[in-house]
Amino acid sequence: MPWCYLRHMSRATPLTDRTEPLLVLGIESSCDDTGAAVVRWSPDGTADILSNEVFGQTELHADFGGVVPEIAARAHAEKLDVMVEAALSAAGAKLKDMTAIAVTAGPGLIGGVLSGVMCAKGLAVGAGLPLVGVNHLAGHALTPRLTDGLVFPYLMLLISGGHCQFLIVEGVDQFERLGGTIDDAPGEAFDKVAKLIGLPQPGGPSIEKVAATGDPKRFAFPRPLLNRPGMDMSFSGLKTAVLRERDRLVDEQGGLFANDQADLAAGFQAAVVDVLAEKTERALRAYLEKCPDTPAFSVAGGVAANGHIRSVLHRLCDDHEVAFTAPPLALCTDNAAMIAWAGIERLQLGLVDDMSLAARPRWPLDQTATALVGSGKKGPKA
Ligand code: KG4
Ligand code: ZN
Repeated sequence: MPWCYLRHMSRATPLTDRTEPLLVLGIESSCDDTGAAVVRWSPDGTADILSNEVFGQTELHADFGGVVPEIAARAHAEKLDVMVEAALSAAGAKLKDMTAIAVTAGPGLIGGVLSGVMCAKGLAVGAGLPLVGVNHLAGHALTPRLTDGLVFPYLMLLISGGHCQFLIVEGVDQFERLGGTIDDAPGEAFDKVAKLIGLPQPGGPSIEKVAATGDPKRFAFPRPLLNRPGMDMSFSGLKTAVLRERDRLVDEQGGLFANDQADLAAGFQAAVVDVLAEKTERALRAYLEKCPDTPAFSVAGGVAANGHIRSVLHRLCDDHEVAFTAPPLALCTDNAAMIAWAGIERLQLGLVDDMSLAARPRWPLDQTATALVGSGKKGPKA
């Protein structure tokens, strides 16, 4: 049985006067998940995810402490056609039934993005279908319209192993970036800290579990950039502060006891929560000033699975009378349904690409925002 996700879409403006459904195959390969999905939009305004297949590469990279671009690219190249077949079959559809093929064209690890784009181009040419290039971040940012029918403009916080930014989502192709990390993404910090204190990967869930029994006040970890105006964040110094405390404990007592691990985890998590809470409060204020009518906030990305972070964000939204939404986790983390959906949104605006579609390692959503420098564990910063 295909996994169906049915929601009514409410919109400020009518979609199109289209009477035929749109059936789009989405392809995602920008980091360490090879995804293919089929999403259908119907003229009555409903949308269904007919299939959403993901092959995660976590095990392939486990020994290297991060995603190895060459291994990722090779695994994508090997798995893309398999995942496309699986997605079509789970949707009970054939390639020729599709209206278009949507593919992540960036930002991300270039080898993986290239694999996806080449696969999509081949399928589009072979089946005579339109090709739609999608920005991976737009895929995340537009997902709450698929899952919860959000109308523009809404505020989005994207927090994962590779991303961290506040965006005002104003339209399918219109985003204002209010701020984001200037170094590590929060998920990256969770993963690195878990490694430092001897907890298994992925670090987020391990830290959250162990932190539940820890004392968040035992260590005075910093709350980076809180004293600076704006909505930029930094998590790299926090990670270094945990490293220092770990080294001190190892020097003093020859290693870490379970209560040390729990206290370090709890202290680190509390610092991340405080930073995200303060910056979200500022982002909500900036957003509400600009968009006071029917305000809505959505969080996406793997770090949104964290119960503390989620409940703090929810409470802040309640305080500001802003509707809080968080797509189901499978649609918060990297997946191809979000790419198919963003493809549908673009198709409805007539935004179609041709064979000159390029794979882009960097592709900021907000072209006016200051460019980010550096590269994270999961590739270049967008
Ligand atoms: O969105 P995602 O699946 O993948 C990419 O980053 O592309 O996010 C994965 C990240 C990992 O860094 C993982 O440690 C983090 O999300 N994560 C969490 C939790 N569950 C997953 N971080 C904090 N708390 C969690 N419960
Ligand atoms: Zn992502």
